[in-house]
Amino acid sequence: MSPSPPPEPIAGARLLFSLDPAVSHLNHGSFGAVPIPVQRAQHRLRDEMEANPLRFYSQGLTDRIAHARRHLATFLDADPQGAALVSNATTGVGVVLQSLGLGPGDEVISTDHAYGAVTLAIARECRRTGATSRVLPVPLTAPDEDVVRIVRAGLRPGRTRLVVLDQVTSATARLMPVAAVVSAAHAHGIPVLVDAAHVPGMLPVSVSDVAADFWVGNLHKWGYAPRGTALLVVAEPWRDRIEPPVVSWEQESGFPARLEWQATVDYTPWLAAPVGLFTLRSLGLDRVRRHNAALAAYGQRVVGEALGVGPAALPDPGDPAVAMRLVPLPPGVATTFDAARSLRQRIADRLATEVSVASWHGRGWLRLCGQVYNTPDEYERLALRLPALLDHR
Ligand SMILES: Cc1ncc(COP(=O)(O)O)c(C=O)c1O
Repeated sequence: MSPSPPPEPIAGARLLFSLDPAVSHLNHGSFGAVPIPVQRAQHRLRDEMEANPLRFYSQGLTDRIAHARRHLATFLDADPQGAALVSNATTGVGVVLQSLGLGPGDEVISTDHAYGAVTLAIARECRRTGATSRVLPVPLTAPDEDVVRIVRAGLRPGRTRLVVLDQVTSATARLMPVAAVVSAAHAHGIPVLVDAAHVPGMLPVSVSDVAADFWVGNLHKWGYAPRGTALLVVAEPWRDRIEPPVVSWEQESGFPARLEWQATVDYTPWLAAPVGLFTLRSLGLDRVRRHNAALAAYGQRVVGEALGVGPAALPDPGDPAVAMRLVPLPPGVATTFDAARSLRQRIADRLATEVSVASWHGRGWLRLCGQVYNTPDEYERLALRLPALLDHR
């Protein structure tokens, strides 16, 4: 079977972004990129704020926040009353951990695919409360049934107070069977926090169907929102127990207002976030998703070939819709966190290409994303030049 060709570009899409044309931006996943119409919408909101700060903050701001929240929640098929805007996935995870009331004898379970900062947050909360954290090893390409089996076997009813699972993992770029894990955990009365940082905009998702106790997704990655926009969705029984990072004037108003009102901060990212979804829809949501996933798969194949990695050795993300793909680096390359970071920097400096490099279980991995502003030649150029860069370590 001949490999699939790269997808047709989405005409004019690159012009929607302010990205430096001298650089190939193959890492949308880390910090996203905000389309110009969304930047403009946020600038207009900032102008309004600066024209009369008092009026901006004291007249109708909470209604405008609620309106933005309803828009984003509806897009994700989440209950708008059960959702709260937070600044980012990391904040959402921290809020949940601190609201659980963990204590000695309790444990929090995660997997070895979890995002590094989330693992650190779990560790700190466990240290602070006397709880313990347990990381379950899950093989890179374990089929969904195995992932569910591993998590189920790791549950200790009576002790396990939370399971944390990524919906799309960061370092390993794979989809996890979150809904099945939620039902396995719920069978023992154990709550689940789904870290869906990469999901909004990338994958069609019904948060209600996932049915997690807590679900947090960034809008500022694949949802084209200004940075600082994430949605934390909380199941009904937990809402009253959720405590905000900072106690402010809406503390007595309950969920979600107490979480969203964080004193004098910049709320313009949230208010402009619906324009991100509007931009996605005007490009064609399905078209963008298909394009990005196909381009990432193309990039994975050409860069893999250049490094001598055949299709069979390229990790499958578990769902063709995932717009981030991994390429294994040669043995000995980027085997530690620091080595991965310095290789990423060298690729940026020498090849004018932004990629993610991670070390996972002592092996280096390149993560390539596909986005509407990318073209096949960017991956082809990387494929051409990366082997020599790796040879001259
Ligand atoms: C799985 C996962 N969780 C959490 C985060 C953190 O996102 P943020 O920095 O927006 O909090 C990331 C960022 O890439 C991620 O990939």
